[in-house]
Amino acid sequence: MILVTGGAGYIGSHTCVALLQAGYEVLVLDNFCNSKAESLHRVASITGKAVPLVQGDVRDRDLLREVFGTHAIDGVIHFAGLKAVGESVEKPLTYYDTNVSGSVVLTEVMAEFGIQMLVFSSSATVYGDPVNLPIREDFPVGATNPYGRSKLMVEQIYTDVANSDKAWRIALLRYFNPVGAHVSGAMGEDPNGIPSNLMPYISQVAVGRREQLTVFGNDYPTVDGTGVRDYIHVMDLAEGHVRALAWLKNQTGAHVFNLGTGRGYSVLEMVRAFELVSGRPVPYLISPRRAGDVAEVYADSSKAERELDWKATRDIEVMCRDTWNWQKQNPQGYPD
Ligand code: NAD
Ligand code: UFG
Repeated sequence: MILVTGGAGYIGSHTCVALLQAGYEVLVLDNFCNSKAESLHRVASITGKAVPLVQGDVRDRDLLREVFGTHAIDGVIHFAGLKAVGESVEKPLTYYDTNVSGSVVLTEVMAEFGIQMLVFSSSATVYGDPVNLPIREDFPVGATNPYGRSKLMVEQIYTDVANSDKAWRIALLRYFNPVGAHVSGAMGEDPNGIPSNLMPYISQVAVGRREQLTVFGNDYPTVDGTGVRDYIHVMDLAEGHVRALAWLKNQTGAHVFNLGTGRGYSVLEMVRAFELVSGRPVPYLISPRRAGDVAEVYADSSKAERELDWKATRDIEVMCRDTWNWQKQNPQGYPD
């Protein structure tokens, strides 16, 4: 059985689908601070399998002891954390507590119970402004905000932990920009309030929930002046976790992997792709750059391809189609 912390969230819920379909049993731990239980009902209806849930906080040591003491857990995928860059600047301690302390408490309790296989959600944000493109795992790291630093700290902690005891097997997965939804349209990204990420913003404009997109800068040294990112379909990402888990069985140590497609798209290319697939206009307004944004980010994911036998297969059209399908069927996101 795999313990999935933050399993009710966007990437976690899609990963539960991939795990269940690959024959794993899952147990979700989530405090629903940024998700709803409905996402797990959708996982169950898509897979036809129940999704056992423990509602609680990953920092709650007593609760974790109870979870590891009463379930036959073989490994952990650790998604639980806070992820809003802007909020992390305003509330750094909240971010370090949840993301860093949460990871430490989880790992201590895992060690107590002799469970030493772990997959951790890291982020391409740890590369800051990349020195070159495409970005390889051995490029210098350096985050520019508390959220990014919390991810970097956890990566460093896990590397030290793995070095201290060869029984640990840890995959540190650096996601590029997850987008898209399950092909059924029953599951997708359901941000609270005004989306801060591009794709949910575009789809809420297309469905009529918001008037227009604000494009943050058109004076970057890119194909059309707007920011370029490596968007990756959330189901490709989910399958990457399944591969990482299988691979870890025969490994020791901590290992970093980029999970991206290797291809970058600009903001305006994303807008056009979405308009084409949805048949809806996505009006936009150009505004100044957003603080902390970089011009261009895309991955070299050849290490994951070589070692994990994993490659993203869903292209930009599929990413837009599945997002639109989810948005159309669930214009207000998941019900309470
Ligand atoms: P999400 O907010 O949808 O999912 C996170 C889940 O963790 C939520 O269900 C939330 O309720 C839960 N959670 C948060 N704090 C918790 C706590 N203290 N105890 C228990 N549960 C808690 O976010 P997501 O997009 O699915 O991201 C999952 C992970 O991937 C996060 O660690 C995030 O930092 C990382 N990541 C996300 C992106 C992205 O763009 N979405 C990119 C890179 C890395
Ligand atoms: N953008 C807009 N308008 C918006 C939102 C975004 O023009 O309303 C632009 C941004 O300037 C950027 C691109 O769209 O050029 C993508 O922005 P996102 O906010 O969707 O994604 P980021 O690349 O800024 O960051 C995301 C997550 C981070 C994560 C990182 C990994 O927010 O948490 O991807 O690469 F670390």
